[in-house]
Amino acid sequence: MKPRIVVPLVATFCLGLLSVSAAWAGDAGIVTPKLLPQPAHMVLKPGSFEVTADTPLRAADGPVLRQVGMQFKAMLGDRLPLRLDLAKDGSHGNNIVFGFDGTRAWASPDAYSIDIDEHGVRVHAGDAKGLYYGAVTLAQLLTSGDAESGSVRLPALHIDDAPRFSWRGLMLDSARHFQSVDDIKRLLDAMAQLKLDVFHWHLTDDQGWRFPVPGWPKLTTIGDCRIPSGDGGIDAATGKPVPYCGFYSEAQIRDVVAYAAARHIVIVPEVDIPGHATAAIAAYPQLGVSGQPVAVSSEWGVNVNLFNADEATMRFLEDVMGQVAKLFPGRYVHIGGDEAVKDQWKASAKMQARIHELGVNGEEGLQAWMIARLERYLSAHGKRVIGWDEILAGKLPPSATVMSWRGSEGGVDAAKQGHDVVMAPAGDLYLDYLQTDSPNEIPGRPSLVTLKQVYDFEPVPKTLDAQQATHILGVQANVWTEHMRTFARVQHAAFPRIAALAEVAWSAKSQRDYAGFLQRLPAMLPRWSAQGIAYAATPFQPIVTSEARDGGVEVTLREPLGYTVRYTTDGSAPTAMSPAYYTSLGLPLPVTLSAQAFFDGRPLGAAVTRAFTAASLRSRSDEELATCSRKLVLRLEDDGPRTGDRAIFNVDIFDPCWSWQRAPLADIATVEVRAGRIPYFFQLAHDEPSRVFKPAQTAYGELELRDGCDGRLLATVPLPAQPDADGFITLRAPLQNAPAIGDLCIRFTGDTRPTMWVLDRVTLVPR
Ligand code: ACM
Repeated sequence: MKPRIVVPLVATFCLGLLSVSAAWAGDAGIVTPKLLPQPAHMVLKPGSFEVTADTPLRAADGPVLRQVGMQFKAMLGDRLPLRLDLAKDGSHGNNIVFGFDGTRAWASPDAYSIDIDEHGVRVHAGDAKGLYYGAVTLAQLLTSGDAESGSVRLPALHIDDAPRFSWRGLMLDSARHFQSVDDIKRLLDAMAQLKLDVFHWHLTDDQGWRFPVPGWPKLTTIGDCRIPSGDGGIDAATGKPVPYCGFYSEAQIRDVVAYAAARHIVIVPEVDIPGHATAAIAAYPQLGVSGQPVAVSSEWGVNVNLFNADEATMRFLEDVMGQVAKLFPGRYVHIGGDEAVKDQWKASAKMQARIHELGVNGEEGLQAWMIARLERYLSAHGKRVIGWDEILAGKLPPSATVMSWRGSEGGVDAAKQGHDVVMAPAGDLYLDYLQTDSPNEIPGRPSLVTLKQVYDFEPVPKTLDAQQATHILGVQANVWTEHMRTFARVQHAAFPRIAALAEVAWSAKSQRDYAGFLQRLPAMLPRWSAQGIAYAATPFQPIVTSEARDGGVEVTLREPLGYTVRYTTDGSAPTAMSPAYYTSLGLPLPVTLSAQAFFDGRPLGAAVTRAFTAASLRSRSDEELATCSRKLVLRLEDDGPRTGDRAIFNVDIFDPCWSWQRAPLADIATVEVRAGRIPYFFQLAHDEPSRVFKPAQTAYGELELRDGCDGRLLATVPLPAQPDADGFITLRAPLQNAPAIGDLCIRFTGDTRPTMWVLDRVTLVPR
């Protein structure tokens, strides 16, 4: 099917963003379709049809149609309550009709069509999945405009839609942090509304094992619990450890599988082998290389513990795969294969003997042998194996599918070798990477994966020929949850970027248009709110930066997605009539600035308010400072308090330093530094030697201030053994011989592992 969209809209340009300002052909009252993902083919036609609360919804014979009718009603929720009339005869007009059409050659089971004319709405498909997607699109058409009036005038149109890719995936890591079944259902609902159809469920890792396996009870009595690092793992009142535990029972898994299936989402369970295995080895040390007891890990990164490849361990893994095959009816099982550093296998005489006995090519050959053995087992149970791109390192069974995460190169190699591929490159589709550089971001990895980066990702690299390209099954974004202690953070990470993913996965390449996407995205926000999805506010809020300038302040406002920003400087809330921001503002002190993003005359996110005074300009938080080398910058949460809000720090864990560039140091007597202390809770395997720390001169190290990261020492203050009771310290460093303007670098010396000092705020105190 040749994708084509004909949407005759009157458009205006506003700050580089296409801004739709009128509906079809100037016919006021007819909604402009705001669809996500954009359909393959949509033609607007003259005429319209008004849907009211009384418009009959007719789903002809059969339980499938009845179900889709009910689902359609649920999708609209309270936004447009429709009467549900399940009469069989839908031919009388002035109604909405869902029906199967077996006479057409549908492009895929996901395909559907919608026709709207003055007599009503007809949604057709050849398959239940396509009909469901037709209902999703119709629900989006009905929620493209104002919801307040209770009726919607839809434009006459024809939509013929089918996806570009069959694998439209989202991965959720339930091992590092655990989400409730209700939370997962909310995520599945939102995925289905964007026509995503694969839920990759990462269920095992170093930090937790999350499902029961008959015959191996300790997986869910020991393997499912860890003691969180630092204060988060201790009851302050009793001093006793407080474990973090959780697993999904068989009944819960069946419930989630059925819930997903009803929304045409298939679940791909992941059991990670041979690495990311510490939780299982903690439960059964005989599965590990040394046989010695280990604890379920409470540290992030790459742990060295691997499963051994003994026959007994292979039988354990087959028991696990048998359970997976029983609980998850989908075709694919993910066997991991990532980040399995082979140090333990290399150092073990027993493992070396096993390599010799099996006649495999070293440690990579042994991993490939394990994968091949499990592949045979899973094939016999009607399953196909998928694994991370490291599985390409050894000889791989031809039927194995490769998930390319270390860039797209692994996917290219795999497709050229004839393997099916799912593209999920970290630099484009990892949603634990932050989406903006706002100080209000959640913890995560501050190397950004912006909404635009997700949107611009092209799953079929140019280096593949047409035949090789057929191996690209689709795309997937991954939500790793090391830094997502709550489901609110999972939602923040996934939304709105999941909408960009959906368009990459569903819409034809020729339909992709970022400016058009930004036009349609605001209509998604109330839909998400109605579903109880707490999407990230940060992309829709101006980021405020400021510099002292000529006795006043120069303020720069940047809206991460480029929406129009309006502002006030008199303490009032911005409105659609407030001045639009174009270029930096020179303002006198003191001043209170409020700024807010607007689209189509409506606010997008809450206003951001900042009060500027001479004193506030002499103080910066860690988010407002640079780092020296950006070796491994993370946005990390404090380890306590155990419940409630925690501070968040930007820190380069391999070179912890903070730099205030061009700091105004003339007339500054003292630099005041507030610092917190967090666990150094990382396992970084071969990367650990890249860590930089400056030797300490005194027992607990020093706070050091320099002019430039490796520049002249300006001040030094000894650090205490412990922070204060609140977990913070405030240190005052008298400045000597500072330049009038300098790149003020702040460091804490010494190798402070297993903890580390982190900067919270720096304040320049004048003479
Ligand atoms: C991965 O991110 N380790 C697949």
